[in-house]
Amino acid sequence: MSRFFSDLVKNITPYVPGEQPKDRRFIKLNTNENPYPASAKVMAAIGSVTALAARLYPDPQVTELRRTLAAYHNLAIDQVFVGNGSDEVLAMMFPAFFDRTDTIAFPDITYSFYPVYAALYQIPYVAVPLQEDFTIDFDDFPENLKALLLANPNAPTAIAVTSAEIENQLRRRPETLIIVDEAYVDFGAESVVPLTCRYDNLLVIQTLSKARSLAGLRVGMAFGNPELIRALECIRDSFNSYTVDVVAQRAAKAAYEDVAYFEKTRAAIIATREKTVAALTDIGMKILPSTANFVFCTWPGVAGEKVQQYLRDNGVLVRRFNKPRIEDWLRITIGTDEEMDEVIRLLQLFGTPA
Ligand SMILES: Cc1ncc(COP(=O)(O)O)c(C=O)c1O
Repeated sequence: MSRFFSDLVKNITPYVPGEQPKDRRFIKLNTNENPYPASAKVMAAIGSVTALAARLYPDPQVTELRRTLAAYHNLAIDQVFVGNGSDEVLAMMFPAFFDRTDTIAFPDITYSFYPVYAALYQIPYVAVPLQEDFTIDFDDFPENLKALLLANPNAPTAIAVTSAEIENQLRRRPETLIIVDEAYVDFGAESVVPLTCRYDNLLVIQTLSKARSLAGLRVGMAFGNPELIRALECIRDSFNSYTVDVVAQRAAKAAYEDVAYFEKTRAAIIATREKTVAALTDIGMKILPSTANFVFCTWPGVAGEKVQQYLRDNGVLVRRFNKPRIEDWLRITIGTDEEMDEVIRLLQLFGTPA
């Protein structure tokens, strides 16, 4: 450890992203990427960026893309913020809304970046245990929180709550900022974006990385009351005004305009998920109800590490979190039908007595 390190660097445990292997070809089901390529219209938009446009800084207000997003969701443009992936939007949200004297809360089992940001900005947090079946009981969350942070559907469990349940919390906790991370919402859960017009204590975060096949371009959004959006802009413009490059701005706009491709690919992923759930249930795996592009499953009585290693040895990468309560569970991204057929075949073999 260098003597030049800050106390922060000495003490923080960074987030560890899923492996991106370069050495061999895997069926890659470990980071919830979309198995389908970006739409042809997105690629045309990328190709339309001229040398002249690349010479200039991008529009720091991301105006064209925000206009498209606002029209798509029936919002005003000042209710939309765009950042370099939703991870960056989350990273800007912490200093925009939380002080070191505040307490925020999120479930004990959720997106593992949340506690990392809390540690980075030194914001006290409560990790509220999910129920035994991994569902959420909002009554377990303390009163008087500055913020309640919720991934919906949750990751890695894939379980969603309804928009009525979230609205209930928005009404019950008017002094608490409720942040809903909807990274996976397009695969079958209910979005609360429309509620941002009625509740000033709601911020919704989404991404183009999952349902729109653009994880490589890094585009994420926040939707909320204009005042909340202004706070995010204030942090962005105190950090880096140009986080969304010219290529990403054009491509993201095209992705939202190509509704037909979005509908086709997400329907295919949902259909493949349902087939996968049925097949894995048949061979005795336990699977939580999923409205995401992944399933969270376990083989009762078998160490998760063993199943994960077996799949890896046979060319399939899946994600496992070495955390209490879920160390024997695997998070498997839904791939193409062919990829999932191979996973099912391997797991059937694994479960067959020798
Ligand atoms: C719940 C959740 N939120 C946010 C993200 C970050 O997405 P991105 O930064 O690619 O927009 C992820 C990525 O896996 C996620 O699972």
